Amino acid sequence: MKKIEAVIRVEKLDAVRDALEKMGYPGMMITRIEGHGRQKGLVEQFRGREFKLELLPKIKIELVVKDNDVEKLASAIAGAAKTGEIGDGKIFVYPADNAVRIRTGEEGDIAL
Ligand SMILES: Nc1ncnc2c1ncn2[C@@H]1O[C@H](COP(=O)(O)OP(=O)(O)O)[C@@H](O)[C@H]1O
Ligand SMILES: [Mg+2]
Repeated sequence: MKKIEAVIRVEKLDAVRDALEKMGYPGMMITRIEGHGRQKGLVEQFRGREFKLELLPKIKIELVVKDNDVEKLASAIAGAAKTGEIGDGKIFVYPADNAVRIRTGEEGDIAL
């Protein structure tokens, strides 16, 4: 199992959720975060604004998936989240040891 952590634009959440559900992964965690990448949030918020706001709101999506599904899910997330402009976000992949569905006691891939 792997954990996919994707940081995306707030306005791309619905598109990414739809894409993941279509691929059989309706289960996910969503957190509203603030952050910045290489541009430190500067260029993105210059549109007409004079103050500097270095941390920009983003959405973090976390989902634990079968090893074999990581590549197709990461590309589905990227496809749904991409605008081509700076600030599109990032996808990180980590190893995940186990999952337990508390209601049934199922473990591993079957619990996802
Ligand atoms: N190295 C990193 N580690 C953790 N989070 C990051 C990292 N780089 C970017 N992020 C997160 O992704 C969001 C979008 O980053 P983005 O501006 O698209 O990256 P970059 O400017 O490096 O291309 C940031 O607001 C931040 O929350
Ligand atoms: Mg950036």
